[in-house]
Amino acid sequence: MLTDKEMQERTLQAFRGLFPGEIPALYFAPGRVNLIGEHTDYNGGHVFPCALTIGIYAAAAKNDLGMLRMYSANFPGSSVSQIPIGPMVKEKKDGWCSYPKGVIWAFAEKGFEVTQGLDIVYYGNLPNSSGLSSSAAMEVLTGTILLDQFGWTMDGVTLSLLAQRAENVYNGVNCGIMDQFAIAMGKKDHAIFLDTADLAYQYVPLPLADNGVKLVIACSNKKRGLADSKYNERRSECEAALAAIRTARPAESLGALSSAEFEEVKDVIGDPVKIRRARHAVAENERTILAVDALGKGDLAEFGKLMNASHVSLRDDYEVTGIELDTLAETAWEQPGVLGSRMTGAGFGGCTVSLVKEADVEAFIENVGRIYQEKIGYAADFYSVTAGDGPRRLA
Ligand code: GLA
Repeated sequence: MLTDKEMQERTLQAFRGLFPGEIPALYFAPGRVNLIGEHTDYNGGHVFPCALTIGIYAAAAKNDLGMLRMYSANFPGSSVSQIPIGPMVKEKKDGWCSYPKGVIWAFAEKGFEVTQGLDIVYYGNLPNSSGLSSSAAMEVLTGTILLDQFGWTMDGVTLSLLAQRAENVYNGVNCGIMDQFAIAMGKKDHAIFLDTADLAYQYVPLPLADNGVKLVIACSNKKRGLADSKYNERRSECEAALAAIRTARPAESLGALSSAEFEEVKDVIGDPVKIRRARHAVAENERTILAVDALGKGDLAEFGKLMNASHVSLRDDYEVTGIELDTLAETAWEQPGVLGSRMTGAGFGGCTVSLVKEADVEAFIENVGRIYQEKIGYAADFYSVTAGDGPRRLA
């Protein structure tokens, strides 16, 4: 993987090649990994993600052409997209450009109107379709560019909400707030304990280096075909379960219920599949609170056990793992020096995240990699990562 400096250089190079004579500013927004609290953010529960030090870079400068000209150096040979400024309209041919366009649309809705052309070159070092939130990173990055280029101010929470709105309404992907929030509010060496019911949050230090522990991401490289529709299906299953529960007792959200309260009321849901989906949402929220508590006490072993329990619940009750993520997590559990391992993000492909003792990382990557290749037939990729800061202008 290219270093930060190399990424900056190549982003600038690509910009200069396309738009010679302009002097661009350089920006960065991170990807994110969720440590625990999966599929809880649209159920009024807690999440515990952190921003990464890898993500998406961009070089940007205003132009006087009344045009947005956008290019991604991750797709060499593709052409520069040219979009006249004014109301943004989603078009099939937009591809990845629909993310920045969505943000421009969401900003305009709030009165932040782009009235001058802008040239932007993006270049990312997040693995492709890895579930490390490249779309949210691109949204938050675009918002950061707009704020800086046009001299607007906005706090990180508002930026994350606008980025989420761009994704939900402009792009029709019904995601929760976790990804955009984790990216917009990222803090080096910290994870964010966020209550999605009211957006109350707390930065929690990650005591990894002090304990000789590394955060290792394993990317399954599985193509994620129907992920969006399955994601939306899980959301509606949870909504239906909550509606049924409300016929028996008041409940703000699934995240507002304890497991004991859920067990008492669950039979009104009727459908056993929906009962399992809701049970995951309730229990995962509790696990997330317990995990952050364990971390506060320096108990990484307990944190790891809760990560494993999270994966089991996502596998058996929520059914969003699949053989690739199960192979990665279950093989990880058997390796020496592994405190915990689970799928991260939406699932249906993407990545696992593992806590591994530093001395065992090399053997971990070798063994899990070999067993995965043997069983699945293609390779997984491994990255040792650390928690990084949120979006910013670099130069
Ligand atoms: C995706 C969504 C998030 C969240 C996770 C699952 O990453 O964008 O909002 O729902 O899946 O925890």
